[in-house]
Amino acid sequence: MEHLLLLQKAFEERTIEEALDYTVHLVGGKLKCSTSFGQEDQVLTDMIVRHALPVTFFTLDTGRLFNETYETMEKTVARYKTAIEVFFPQAETVQQMVNTHGVNLFYESVENRQLCCHIRKVEPLGRALKDAAVWITGLRAAQTDLRKNIPVVEWMSEKNLYKINPLLNWSYDEVVQYLEKFMVPYNSLHDQGFISIGCAPCTRAIGAGEDPRSGRWWWETTQKECGLHVVK
Ligand code: ADX
Ligand code: SF4
Repeated sequence: MEHLLLLQKAFEERTIEEALDYTVHLVGGKLKCSTSFGQEDQVLTDMIVRHALPVTFFTLDTGRLFNETYETMEKTVARYKTAIEVFFPQAETVQQMVNTHGVNLFYESVENRQLCCHIRKVEPLGRALKDAAVWITGLRAAQTDLRKNIPVVEWMSEKNLYKINPLLNWSYDEVVQYLEKFMVPYNSLHDQGFISIGCAPCTRAIGAGEDPRSGRWWWETTQKECGLHVVK
């Protein structure tokens, strides 16, 4: 908590690479970047590796990802020669959930969907971040109404870490331009009308002019968040 103002100032005044480097020296401890191999995550991975920043990567494999996402994982590891630690949900808990509610329980109710997201994503996230001092994400303000008001740097007392969203104020076009400039590998589903990509049964392609998040949990009309990013 003590470094919050300094970190916020650094991300306002410096480039992302410089601000991350400053974070490494100021905070100490482990810096971890979560990636679902989305476009924003690919930008961050490229930046972090390009500048040899001491940040480790992890992904949450829900067990329900697209094969294209696994291909992106392989391409990313090959290109950047970096380890990406994979966290799985607890097998016993998934087994119990599926045996009780069915394998595609999420279509039945919002409660079921939140249960599945909790078991497959939120609980593993807790384990992934257990020893982290800083959590770096690819959140952007323009993605959802709920993300409009989050800060670039925040202190998460419940997780005892700083959460940093370096690309918060980037536009979608800026993300795409970065990927093109550095020829960063990306999920081939982006070429088929997918923008925001999560689990296969809960993500679909969208049409021109549709809200970028409308392909996620498209059958729900309520808040389109899975609980990874609790918005206060
Ligand atoms: S979600 O909450 O709706 O699923 P979104 O897909 O927008 O999140 O991604 C936002 C950020 O959350 C990503 O930049 C990444 O840091 C993190 N994230 C989302 N899904 C995963 C995942 N499966 N594994 C690791 N990080 C993830
Ligand atoms: Fe389960 Fe769908 Fe959430 Fe993935 S996005 S964890 S499949 S409810």
